[in-house]
Amino acid sequence: MRLSVFGCGYLGAVHAVCMAKLGHDVVAIDVLPEQVTELAAGRPPFHEPGLPELLAETLATGRLRFTTDAAEAADATVHFVCVGTPQKKGEYAADMTYVRAAVADLLPALKPGDVVVGKSTVPVGTAERLLETIQDAEPAAELLWNPEFLREGLAVQDTLTPDRFVYGAAQRDGVPTAQATAAMGVLDEVYAAALAAGTPKIETDLATAQLVKVAANSFLATKISFINAMAELCEATGADVTRLADAIGYDARIGRRFLNAGLGFGGGCLPKDIRAFMARAGELGVDQALTFLREVDSINMRRRVRMVDLAREVCGGSIVSRRVAVLGAAFKPNSDDVRDSPALSVAAQMQLQGAQVTLTDPRAIDNAKKKWPDLQFADTVEEAVRDAEVVVLLTEWQEYLALDPAALREHVAVPRMLDGRNCLDPLAWRAAGWTYRALGRP
Ligand code: UDX
Repeated sequence: MRLSVFGCGYLGAVHAVCMAKLGHDVVAIDVLPEQVTELAAGRPPFHEPGLPELLAETLATGRLRFTTDAAEAADATVHFVCVGTPQKKGEYAADMTYVRAAVADLLPALKPGDVVVGKSTVPVGTAERLLETIQDAEPAAELLWNPEFLREGLAVQDTLTPDRFVYGAAQRDGVPTAQATAAMGVLDEVYAAALAAGTPKIETDLATAQLVKVAANSFLATKISFINAMAELCEATGADVTRLADAIGYDARIGRRFLNAGLGFGGGCLPKDIRAFMARAGELGVDQALTFLREVDSINMRRRVRMVDLAREVCGGSIVSRRVAVLGAAFKPNSDDVRDSPALSVAAQMQLQGAQVTLTDPRAIDNAKKKWPDLQFADTVEEAVRDAEVVVLLTEWQEYLALDPAALREHVAVPRMLDGRNCLDPLAWRAAGWTYRALGRP
């Protein structure tokens, strides 16, 4: 099928490449010329495992091309809207500028029978307005809302083999309109392979489809903040939050996944999505329904403060002029993304409070440098920890989990390890002579 994808950021680039992998003919459009040039040259502008290989493979087939010219969407019949919806500066609400611009750019290309598929995370109510705009321009074109749930680091897998599809469509009297039904048939063809493999599909109205995404992210954020609230209790009582999580996680109704206590959530999605959701609930007059998300957000941000306090505590009451080695800048492993990264936020806070911070990360140093150029950066762990008085592990990269405490001890001035992700074995580190401290563990 001939597809266009608007937006070549995380979501759009991965989606375009995966759609080409499925055999579709894809034109991917972005307003940023450098984004387009890099992708067209086979270089994804962000780190995502498996993407460079798949990009090379699909570019070589001739089925995938990148352009800044939205008019090229005219050849396609299905158009995916994959642009970003970042948090507005100084507000909780989502910035809808890019969604509006993408749809405006698409309008001249629309033909009867075309299907526009919204994938961006938007405030509920957006799709209904976009549908009007689209049908004002081309009454025989249809809009579906089809949220994505991809996780950074697993984006290719999540796009090729998602755990579910959600189709939101315009309804009349509780049933999809004839045009929406036809559009859903077209989307079925796009996703034929995964559907044939039995991937569940939920068909619903536009509002529900838009809500599914923010509800899912709110639930995940709540789960993380729940366990981090328990970590606060554990800290006050000498209990161990990781054992607590293991124990409650065996209850299938609770589940162990997303119950890792530590520095909390960050990244380009969870923080801004729960804030935009609260803002939207306020506009809808149901802000009380989401008041709990304010607490979810606060618990999450308190973990960052607690981490800096812990560093102060082990350094004898002050971090001023202390040499601190920080392992990790990305918001999570297997990513070079530092957007709202808890790791980078803690590193920066310690530096602002007078510590001499040297930061390392396997992938995210370049992005970290752009945000906090005043930090010192090291390419290797050995270099970062040299003469450190405290080592702070903030992103649980596999290579940090595999560190040998005895070997690392040789490089530091004082063997103090603060494990911000509860990912090291306290016994092994203590046995090697380290002072080991973590969030929510005795
Ligand atoms: C998230 C959702 O998982 C995904 O479905 C949605 O499409 C986009 O947002 P992502 O931002 O890639 O994906 O990261 P995710 O893996 O969800 O992790 C988010 C943050 O939570 C990270 O900072 C991670 O370190 C943290 N986290 C995760 C925890 O602190 N504890 C956990 O148990 C799990």
